Amino acid sequence: MLRAREAVRTLPSYYPPLAGRQGLRLDFNENTVGCSPRVLDCLRSLNLEQLARYPEREPVEAKVADFLAVAASELLLTNGVDEAIHLLCQAYLDPGDEALIVVPTYSMYRIYAMAAGAKVVSVPLGERFQFCTNAVCDRITDRTRLIAIANPNNPTGAVATPQDLRRIATSAPHAALLVDEAYFEFYGQTMLGAHHNFPNLFVARTFSKAYGMAGLRAGVLVGNTEQMPSLRRVISPYNVNAAALACLPQAIADQTYIQQYVNEVLEARALLERELRINGIHFWPSQANFVLARVGSSAADSAAFAQQMRTRGILVRDRSSDPGCEGCVRITLGPEAHTAKLLKALQETLREFRPLQGASRS
Ligand SMILES: Cc1ncc(COP(=O)(O)O)c(C=O)c1O
Repeated sequence: MLRAREAVRTLPSYYPPLAGRQGLRLDFNENTVGCSPRVLDCLRSLNLEQLARYPEREPVEAKVADFLAVAASELLLTNGVDEAIHLLCQAYLDPGDEALIVVPTYSMYRIYAMAAGAKVVSVPLGERFQFCTNAVCDRITDRTRLIAIANPNNPTGAVATPQDLRRIATSAPHAALLVDEAYFEFYGQTMLGAHHNFPNLFVARTFSKAYGMAGLRAGVLVGNTEQMPSLRRVISPYNVNAAALACLPQAIADQTYIQQYVNEVLEARALLERELRINGIHFWPSQANFVLARVGSSAADSAAFAQQMRTRGILVRDRSSDPGCEGCVRITLGPEAHTAKLLKALQETLREFRPLQGASRS
């Protein structure tokens, strides 16, 4: 009888809760209003020829490389950052190798590393979810082949400093260090450029968040020229579809749109943090387009809170199942009109939400 590989048979299933998302989408860290009008115009103008041909990645890679001020040979366009993570796991992890992650963090590092048959070594973030370089360095072994760090991290919004990341890259020259900058636009600091000095460093970016193109699936992976040929050997030649490729030059050309959106999100983040503080709700200061808040002390509390917000038309993400996140929800931010709706629903919910009283408030 046909059986999947052992690593696949024992892999936990991952189902992002996408079904029935009616309401304001503050649950997946997407752009809540969508992409630049230039991207939409480009999509509307796609012709038969563009769809009939196999998509050619290289000319668009050259444009994106130019935008990011890296060489085209150092950059790959991927089917979202998810494919970049998958690619690194395929290229660097043999069964039994170790993949180091800090937790809580983005789920797909663990899933792709496990699917490759690697052992996942999880390093808990500090008590306040701060990044602990010493703890990460202590867990590096001869078998460590991949270290994946989301910077800013999801779901905490916390960051590692460039010094932290350089120290890790130096401590594990035999491991690929992925710095996943999916939320770069909201933070502004990057490790791009450092890949010239660290042959084991990879930096990922996405068009799914600030750019509002999660449905088109486009990401970027940048690494040292020494390593990129190995990745080009494993990547599918047609991994990014023609519609996404046509739109990317328009997306990067409209930086005014991105900057405007980012500014609104940063204002919204300050307003939400203020509201949570006033209500005595513990939250973790964030450098991304979301805030993690502890609304109760149990999974039942966070589920009830998310449900109450849903009945008021606002979707937030229950993160209780993440390590150390019992009773927590993650709330994505958007522009002014969405923030007004969010704050209104939050105030109403907090007025009625009984489990929040007492111990759960800080
Ligand atoms: C840290 C991080 N990396 C990657 C992704 C996925 O990005 P993409 O849509 O480009 O695959 C997410 C999405 O939530 C994320 O939070």
